[in-house]
Amino acid sequence: MSEKPTTKVVPSLVSNTGGIVSPNPFWLASAPPANSGGQVQRAFDAGWGGAVWKTLGQPIQNVSSRFGGMHSKGVRAVGFNNIELITDRPLETNFREIYETKKKYPKHAVIVSLMVETREEWKDIIKRSIDTGADGLELNFGCPHGMCERGMGSAVGQEPKVNQEITSWAVEYSSIPVLVKLTPNVSDIRPHGMAAKRGGAHGVSLINTIKSIIGVDIDSFAIEPHVQSLGTNGGYCGQAVRPIALHMVASLAREKDFGLPISGIGGVCNWRDAVEFILLGSSSVQVCTEVMLRGYRIVEDMIEGLTQYMRDHGFSTLDQMVGRAVRNYSEWGDLDLNYETVAKIDASKCIGCNLCMTACQDGAHQCIHPSKDEKSRVPVIDEAECVGCNLCQIVCPVSGCITMEQVQNGFAPATWNQHVHEGALLRPKKGAH
Ligand SMILES: Cc1cc2nc3c(=O)[nH]c(=O)nc-3n(C[C@H](O)[C@H](O)[C@H](O)COP(=O)(O)O)c2cc1C
Ligand code: SF4
Ligand code: SF4
Repeated sequence: MSEKPTTKVVPSLVSNTGGIVSPNPFWLASAPPANSGGQVQRAFDAGWGGAVWKTLGQPIQNVSSRFGGMHSKGVRAVGFNNIELITDRPLETNFREIYETKKKYPKHAVIVSLMVETREEWKDIIKRSIDTGADGLELNFGCPHGMCERGMGSAVGQEPKVNQEITSWAVEYSSIPVLVKLTPNVSDIRPHGMAAKRGGAHGVSLINTIKSIIGVDIDSFAIEPHVQSLGTNGGYCGQAVRPIALHMVASLAREKDFGLPISGIGGVCNWRDAVEFILLGSSSVQVCTEVMLRGYRIVEDMIEGLTQYMRDHGFSTLDQMVGRAVRNYSEWGDLDLNYETVAKIDASKCIGCNLCMTACQDGAHQCIHPSKDEKSRVPVIDEAECVGCNLCQIVCPVSGCITMEQVQNGFAPATWNQHVHEGALLRPKKGAH
């Protein structure tokens, strides 16, 4: 067994995202938990390292109601949806509270999120933001509802030229770092990250919410959430969006010409989720929904878990972790087609529930069968037919009961690209009957 590179040194959680330094990488995302001075200060007391203030801009009027939850098999709000707009509090009040908060918490990162329309408005709001003593700006090019219909939010984030232009205004007017918050409502995030880079951004944050309808009341026919009888598309977030967010973060992190710091957002619920974002290239992580559902104190566990993880893996600084998994994200055409695994069942752990058998029969390759021994409830895998798809391991309720093990099939590694370009030999297909 290989020794783990543990460290006795207390790891430093200090994070630096494009020049915005915070005592740890955990920031409140721009959203209701970062709506006022009282809230942000309580969050800092609880342990959050930074906060992106609820987006400031032209005064708006919000609707009631405005949130929706997607509940799944007994778990409440695995997905979350909102049709809220930017701050509905007076700009003066926000600026005063940002100033007071920054004064009281000089070591914490306070980032002001902004969304306005014209060049003059950007110039004015940026000056007023900088006057509060804030550490950075975040340009909200992401809201997928309401503001985009007024030519802001995702309407900007979806147009690289407009993104680049507004970013360049902000960078011109700002003496503090500028992050561009990107919308996931695009087919490929990379041109949008590159546009922010060309505009001179010091970093990017992603993702904002995903355009969605969270559900329909099948008795009243109302779209959820609804305002009287009408509903509209909103922004999807929370635990369920994490895979989409991880992919977008990683896509930018591995892009050769990109190289900007990333603040990762989307479905972070605990320290493990945060570690995944960091390993895929984020220098900080932002959290909204999980705080809305469970409160600021979740950060205590995040700090403890990240610290222990860094110890266990021998990381003494966050920088050593950032992007460590990016090199393992490859194109499909570069995967080894001759690498082969099969599923194995540990009979001592199996509870005989047969979930694996049903899944393999109906959803995979019909190679898990009842045992011929009538006394045994442990199913048997026909390894000659198993294609190593993982489905049985995914459905098995007992941790470690089904493992995927490599088969030494004697074939040299061969990717699709090597097969096409160099004629590399592929192993015979399994399960193709
Ligand atoms: C109710 C609500 C309001 C939000 N308001 C803003 C906002 O004003 N500005 C902004 O940039 N993002 C806003 N967001 C998006 C979040 O900052 C974040 O990008 C998104 O929710 C994904 O993170 P999560 O999965 O941790 O919630 C809002 C999200 C929610 C749920
Ligand atoms: S890995 Fe896939 S094919 Fe193999 S036994 Fe499990 S479900 Fe069946
Ligand atoms: S799903 Fe797991 S526990 Fe259930 S029968 Fe299959 S191997 Fe055993």
